Amino acid sequence: MTTRLPTIDDLHEAGHVTGKRVLVRCDFNVPLSGSEIIDDLRIRSALPTIESLLEKGARVLLCSHLGRPKGEVDGSLRLAPVGRRLEQLLGQHVEVLDTVVGNEAVAASMSNADIILLENVRFEPGETKNDPDLARAYAQLADAFVLDAFGSAHRAHASVVGVSELLPSAAGLLLQNEVEKLEKVLAAPERPYVAILGGAKVSDKLAVIGNLLRVVDAMCIGGAMAFTLLKAQGHDVGRSLVEDDRIEEVREVLDRAAQAKVEILVPVDVIAADSPHKGAAHEAVTLAEIGERMGVDIGPRTTELFADAIAGAKTILWNGPMGIFEIEEFSQGTRGVAQAVVSATEAGAYSVVGGGDSAAALKELGWTERVSHLSTGGGASLELLEGKELPGIQALRNQRRNG
Ligand code: 3PG
Repeated sequence: MTTRLPTIDDLHEAGHVTGKRVLVRCDFNVPLSGSEIIDDLRIRSALPTIESLLEKGARVLLCSHLGRPKGEVDGSLRLAPVGRRLEQLLGQHVEVLDTVVGNEAVAASMSNADIILLENVRFEPGETKNDPDLARAYAQLADAFVLDAFGSAHRAHASVVGVSELLPSAAGLLLQNEVEKLEKVLAAPERPYVAILGGAKVSDKLAVIGNLLRVVDAMCIGGAMAFTLLKAQGHDVGRSLVEDDRIEEVREVLDRAAQAKVEILVPVDVIAADSPHKGAAHEAVTLAEIGERMGVDIGPRTTELFADAIAGAKTILWNGPMGIFEIEEFSQGTRGVAQAVVSATEAGAYSVVGGGDSAAALKELGWTERVSHLSTGGGASLELLEGKELPGIQALRNQRRNG
């Protein structure tokens, strides 16, 4: 049995919150255009934990990565825009520092601010190496640690794993909620259970497909990854994106699906285009008619086929777009699936949507509130769905076992 995650309440009851400094690792890795935040879902999702700690009388030190600076300062990846957005959302001053650790500024600010935001942790060379000295430096800043960065929980980095081993630690409310919601679709789903998987590469999703075969009744496969499946089934897919080196693995997965009696739904028609770019000539065709063109979206008959399967489901998991949804002409399949997921949810199904692209598609449609759970994790939610224990979560569970 998996050990229960230690919670903020556990920390509080043990006397590690009131009047104490609590370091919270968040995932504020938000999309930016210049210094403008394009999507603040990850910032808003961190508010319940911050507010809960403040209510309990803690001083809160927030930290996060942003982008992938390689252990040095990158002026375009400073966390100041996140700090400003946090201030607006919390209605409270947030002291934004321009250093991560090892600076007296942290100690000085601690005495007169309730919320401090440290600089991008990936400016420190030791962060992604889980360097023990850096972990110790984080630990010296605080009395307790809360991991709330679900989107980064698959990274064994110093501010995720290292520090958690050195301080009394707990899962934040976002992390707890994500784990609960995602584990629900892996453990005891209500049936019928339909998964919809899309995205560009089947290689990114083979492990997820393999793990989901244990629990789902049907799987709808769209996006460019469907073309590797179609080719494995003997179809000619023209110039569509195919991972030829994965065809054997795909055949094995299809055999396992047949043994497990999981129905695999693949496209019966596609939007075929001359090129994957805006303005390219395109039309809906059957697979036999793709010719020298490439598939850029599922076709209308496939959208209907997938929507019918989704309409009959009691549990739905959706990860990955059905086509190149950023281009309006190739977004209809993704839109159709999103509509079907929303309608099924409104009819009582439990739906979980994970992965950055499906979340972005739902956001564009203004439907983020209309599914049961929208995950803030990209890679992290995929790894969890693969059945892996994420290092950040494992470190918290170990602490509970040992503590
Ligand atoms: C994400 O955006 O998926 C997380 O913030 C993790 O980012 P990373 O892939 O750079 O570790």
